[in-house]
Amino acid sequence: TTIFIFNGPNLNLLGTREPEIYGTTTLAEIDAACVAKAREHGLSVDFRQSNHEGVLVDWIHQAHKAKARAIIINAAAYTHTSIALLDAAKAVTPPVIEVHLSDPHTREEFRHKSYIGEAAVACFKGKGLQSYLDAIDAVAAL
Ligand code: DQA
Repeated sequence: TTIFIFNGPNLNLLGTREPEIYGTTTLAEIDAACVAKAREHGLSVDFRQSNHEGVLVDWIHQAHKAKARAIIINAAAYTHTSIALLDAAKAVTPPVIEVHLSDPHTREEFRHKSYIGEAAVACFKGKGLQSYLDAIDAVAAL
């Protein structure tokens, strides 16, 4: 079965985007590491990124229709703004797990609120790439 991993706005720029916060690992490197980690558990990964809120909503619906094992999502800035993503996460059957490279709670106050977190069964944050790998281990243990 497949774990869908969705990444929100600006995460396509990882590697050069604010490296003092996000490190220098690229999104392609995160994708490859997630595929390898999932394979250890006999799972496959469908890894995607979009800068568009509605596309992310559509992908959550697609993951549901595809009977995904789980949805791991780094909603990026939409974490803190998007009721649409929260409602989508609430509307679907696969468990949703929230991930972040940084720890939003140690940053600006406007990053402290997570809408998607209201529907997530777990959150892994503050560990860069390792946040994603911990989320995959958690899915395998569900
Ligand atoms: C982020 C944290 C968010 O606050 C920010 O808007 C991002 C990335 C992270 O992975 O640390 O774009 O989700």
